[in-house]
Formats: sequence, structure tokens, C-alpha cells
Amino acid sequence: KKKLILDVDTGTDDAVAIMLAALHEDLDLVGVTTVNGNAELHYCTDNSLRVLDFIGKGSIPVYAGCVKPIVRSDFPIPRTKNDLTEKIHGKHLPLPETKLQAQQQHAVEYLVETYRSTTDPISLVPVAPLTNIAAALAIEPKLVNLIPEVVIMGGGHDVGNVTPAAEFNIWADPEAAYTVFNAGFEKLTMVPLDATHKALVTASQCIQFGELGTPAGQAMAACTGHRIGIHDKIQRMDIEHSAPVHDALCIAHLIQPEVITLEEHPVDIETHGELSVGRTIIDKNRRGLKPVNCKVAFDADAALFVEIMMKTFAKIA
Ligand code: BDR
Ligand code: CA
Repeated sequence: KKKLILDVDTGTDDAVAIMLAALHEDLDLVGVTTVNGNAELHYCTDNSLRVLDFIGKGSIPVYAGCVKPIVRSDFPIPRTKNDLTEKIHGKHLPLPETKLQAQQQHAVEYLVETYRSTTDPISLVPVAPLTNIAAALAIEPKLVNLIPEVVIMGGGHDVGNVTPAAEFNIWADPEAAYTVFNAGFEKLTMVPLDATHKALVTASQCIQFGELGTPAGQAMAACTGHRIGIHDKIQRMDIEHSAPVHDALCIAHLIQPEVITLEEHPVDIETHGELSVGRTIIDKNRRGLKPVNCKVAFDADAALFVEIMMKTFAKIA
């Protein structure tokens, strides 16, 4: 079984990523760390616990992490009441309340301690602003050698979703993203919007997920159904009645790598631009001086993605 730690800001698509990681037979989700992002930290932590409880995986530990970006006192543009993120995710997931509690230990301490002490390879999958990971690197720079693989949901080349230039996870903490992309990880994979927007889940597939009759199928239908409703209203997507489920695509890649198509490029992060803060600069044409540091997904196999989730969510935990 492939071990992984998932860093989340749960979130309707993080919820699906958690379920896929917790339920797939080839994966061993050893811990979930949460961070300020789609909602304030305590909502993201509570939502993560709700998901695990609902699918019968309440024994997987959840650690609450950073409440603010690494440098800024807030996101580049402060959250507003009309925040798009809140519309897409809501504060609470459409799942029952839980009595489960997060662990006492802080997520960043957990990450540092786990990677310092483990003898097994554990992949790290951040699908949220990169604050916890940057903080962990500040405490223990050797993490670049101790973490065998990092798979990040974030960024965009042809697509932005929070500004014309930037994707939410990178935009929400650009300095943290800069730190992580420039840290020198041996194996860094980035799954940007360019790929996740090619792996849409449709409304009719959502009905099929619901009809699986399992808790995971039900949760998938509720979370993704919510996303589709909102995307139909506010996003300019090519296909109606469908939505990306960004974060889960990273997990699908751990299960079947070919679900995304990767290219190697130098990638850097814009932290100062007036119009472009949080942009991932993917140097496809080698105009800059930085070496290749990342594998970037530009395409995805939507049918395979849905098949992986359908098979996994059909099984009772
Ligand atoms: C990313 O931002 C968050 O809102 C989602 O959970 C996903 O991780 C997509 O831009
Ligand atoms: Ca997320």
C-alpha cells in the first residue's frame, strides 16, 4: 500500500480527495492535516472530520494547522462576504455533524515529526494553500530529502479561477507557494486547473454516484452536486451541468499515474505582481534561467478519473 498524508482545506473537492485516499485499497492515508483556505481553519478541520466519520474512517487522525498565510495577515485580497470560495464550498459540508475531534498536536509539528521519524516512504499531497508545508520547511529544511514525493493541486497556465492570472491555492498564500516550489524537492508534481478542468464530473454521473447506495457515493453526490449547481451559475465552463473535482485528481494520480499527462518544466511563483500575484509561471519555452523543478499536468483522462472513483466509492469501508 502507498502511504500518504493529505493536506486539505475541506472543501467540497477536498472531501472527495479524502474519501478516495481513505477508501482505495492501494492507498494508506496515514494522516490528514488542515489549513486555512476554502473556509477558516476550524471549518476545514470540522469538515475533514465529518467526511471521515461519515465513511467509517474516523480512526484516521486529523491535525489542525495554520490559521493565516505565512507572510500576509490575510489573503492578497481580504475575504469578502460575497466570496466565491464560500459560494462553491460553503462553511460546512452537506454532511452530518460529528463528535470526532482533531488531534492535540499542530499539523506542522506532525509533519516535521512524522517525516523525521518514518522509515517508510510517505507521499505528501497538499491540495490547499501551501502554508503548512512552507512552515514545516522553515522548521526542518531537510524535509526536501525526507519527503519522497509531493503532489500539489494548484496553479494554472491557461486558466485562473480566483483572478484572471491565478488559481486559489497558490493565490491564497503566494509566499508559501514560492517557498515550496523553490525548496528543491526531488519529485514535485503539480496538478493545475489546466488538468482538473479536463476531468469534469457531470450531473448524470453524480446521480450514478448517489445510486451506489454507499456513504461515499452519497457524500460524493451531495458534494459534487453542490459544486455543479454553483458552477452552472457562476463559472464560465465549457460544458454545462458539470464541475471539476480538482483535489481528487491528485489522489487518482497516485492510484493510476496515467490519469494525468505530465510535462517537465521550470515553475516559479509570482509574489509581487499587481495583476498577477499568485500566478504559477510555467516556463514552457525555457525563457528563464531556472532549472526544471516540477512535473506539470496539462491533460487528464476524465473517463478513467470517474471510473476510479466509481469503483472505490461502490465498496463499503
Ligand atoms: C482549489 O482551490 C480550492 O477552492 C479547491 O479545494 C481546490 O483545492 C482549486 O482552485
Ligand atoms: Ca482544496
